[in-house]
Amino acid sequence: MIVTVDGPAASGKGTLARRLAKHLGLPHLDTGLLYRGVGYLMLEAGLPLDDAAAAARAAQSLDLSKIDQEKLRFDEIGEAASKVAAIPGVRAALLKLQQDFARQPGGAVLDGRDAGTVIAPEADVKLFVTATREERARRRFRELQDRGEAAVFEAVLADIKTRDGRDSERSIAPLKPAPDAVLLDTTRLDIEAAFRAALSIVEAPRAGRTRS
Ligand code: C5P
Repeated sequence: MIVTVDGPAASGKGTLARRLAKHLGLPHLDTGLLYRGVGYLMLEAGLPLDDAAAAARAAQSLDLSKIDQEKLRFDEIGEAASKVAAIPGVRAALLKLQQDFARQPGGAVLDGRDAGTVIAPEADVKLFVTATREERARRRFRELQDRGEAAVFEAVLADIKTRDGRDSERSIAPLKPAPDAVLLDTTRLDIEAAFRAALSIVEAPRAGRTRS
C-alpha cells in the first residue's frame, strides 16, 4: 500500500506520516529532507540558490547519509530548500529515487508537497494535511523555543507565508491537493486526535478494498 501525506510547512504532515508508517509497518520517506539536503549543499559550497545548473548537480550527487540530519532542520535550510525546489533540474534529479521508494514491494508512506500529485499519483491513500497559517506559525514558534532558539512569532509567521507562496505558486509540482486526496485540517486537533483521524482515513479504503 502506498500512502502519501502532502501539505504546507508545519502542518503536522511529517509527524503524521512517521506515525502512520510505524503503525502500518511501512517504510517512510520525508521527501522534504532531499530538498533540504540540496539547499544545504548549495549553502555549504557558497553557491547562489538560483544557480540552476549547480543545484541540479547537487541533487544528482546527493547522499543524505553523508549529511548530519540535525543540520537540515534549521529554518534557514527550509528556506533554501524551497528555493532550489522550484528548479526543474533539481526536481527531475530527485524524482526517480522517490518513485522507487514509493514502489518498493509492500509499499511505503511518503510525505512532502507533490507525493500524491507527481511522485505517486497511483497511491492507494492520499492525505492533504492543512492547518491555518497562524496555527502552523504557533507550532513552529513553540518548536524553535523548545530547541532553545531565539524566535519572534511575527517573523516565523512571515516566513511561513513566504514559503507557502513560493511552494504554491511555482510552475513545477506546486503544492496542491491531488483531486483524489482527502483533506485533513489539524488546526483544532492535537497530535493524538490528528493521528486517529489520519488512521481512519487510511483504513477506510482498506476495509472495502477489492485489490491487494
Ligand atoms: O517539508 P519541508 O519543510 O522539509 O520541505 C522543505 C521544502 O522542500 C519545502 O518548502 C518545499 O519547497 C520543498 N519540497 C518540495 N517537494 C516535496 C517536499 C519538499 O518542493 N515533495
